[in-house]
Amino acid sequence: MRQNRPVPFKISSIDSLGQGVSKISERITFIPKTLSGEEGEAEIQAEKKGVAFARLKNLTKSSPERITPVCIHFDRCPSCHYLHTSYEQELILKKENFEKLFRNLPLPEIKVIPAPRRTGYRNRIQLHYDTKKRTLGMLDARSSEIIQVPNCLIGEDEVLKKLKELYSNELWLNVASKNPESVHVEIYHKDGATHLNWNREYASGGFTQVFQEMNEKLRIEIADWYGTEPKKVLDLFAGDGNISNNLPNSGRLCVDIYTEPKESEFLSQSLYDEKALSRVLNVLKKKNLTPDILILDPPRSGLIDLNKWLEEITPARVAYVSCDPHTLVRDLQRVSGYHLTGALLLDFFPSTFHFESLIFLERK
Ligand SMILES: C[S@@+](CC[C@H](N)C(=O)[O-])C[C@H]1O[C@@H](n2cnc3c(N)ncnc32)[C@H](O)[C@@H]1O
Repeated sequence: MRQNRPVPFKISSIDSLGQGVSKISERITFIPKTLSGEEGEAEIQAEKKGVAFARLKNLTKSSPERITPVCIHFDRCPSCHYLHTSYEQELILKKENFEKLFRNLPLPEIKVIPAPRRTGYRNRIQLHYDTKKRTLGMLDARSSEIIQVPNCLIGEDEVLKKLKELYSNELWLNVASKNPESVHVEIYHKDGATHLNWNREYASGGFTQVFQEMNEKLRIEIADWYGTEPKKVLDLFAGDGNISNNLPNSGRLCVDIYTEPKESEFLSQSLYDEKALSRVLNVLKKKNLTPDILILDPPRSGLIDLNKWLEEITPARVAYVSCDPHTLVRDLQRVSGYHLTGALLLDFFPSTFHFESLIFLERK
């Protein structure tokens, strides 16, 4: 099919990436920023393995759930996915997609923890730039276009202040790294200061959860589940120990990749290294620590051999925090010997299809 040609669509469902799914003439087409029941015309942007990806061109039938987006960039910007509908509807769609992914696992009723607001929450945002084209903004991976977003609403006040400053009189062109001429910059508000990181890794100033009020809600849910009795804890992908810091413990080991030396409760170890499990077991043995509780909070890639970790460590209970429900399901499907006792959807990333999941497991 020729690209940019308008094609008719009719949306039958919304997928886990927040895209409308249209199946006109047997051909599956994914169209962001549409809603179930909507019809109209879309413009094909790309095709892959017999499916097409398209951009909304016009609507001939719109959903009663459609609202006017609060952000003027929403129609073109690839970063937010749900501002064309109410927050209640966004949460319903997220919950439905979470349930669908878990269809082969015995999932208890999902507890949804909504966000206190839909915009103005991110303590860091990543922008792409191209000094030759004089563009700074969000990268549309499908068209490779950089969409300029001077009025973006997603960041905390301090982040948005810095964003406006960069756009003002194209100031960013004076401060952008010219070598290379195009990649990305992160605006990161941490410990009361706003930093600009040119072409460094995501959260290179040290990881913190992006939405601080939601982080507090996560910590409260885990503390309620954990109880008041001190226990022995292994916290994997622990960062600065955010999740386990406030839990009463009778011994703790936090594991992550640390660039600076830390106290003995913190072990610097890549958890994707094939020897990671045996190294952690050795350290636990030396510390005479047999964890009752395992907490893990990996990046999107998850922990594919979680089953091996559980077989060796045999914690009585597990809290798995995940920012990608696809890898979470993949990892849990390989686990045996544990019941799934709780499932929560914490909306750390309102307006987008992303969210955090929290799963509790108990040894049988
Ligand atoms: C989603 S964050 C969670 C951090 C922490 N639990 C928190 O709440 O702030 C994922 C963490 O995984 C760590 N990480 C990434 N790759 C890793 C690896 N190969 N081995 C160990 N930790 C890794 C990152 O440094 C980051 O701290």
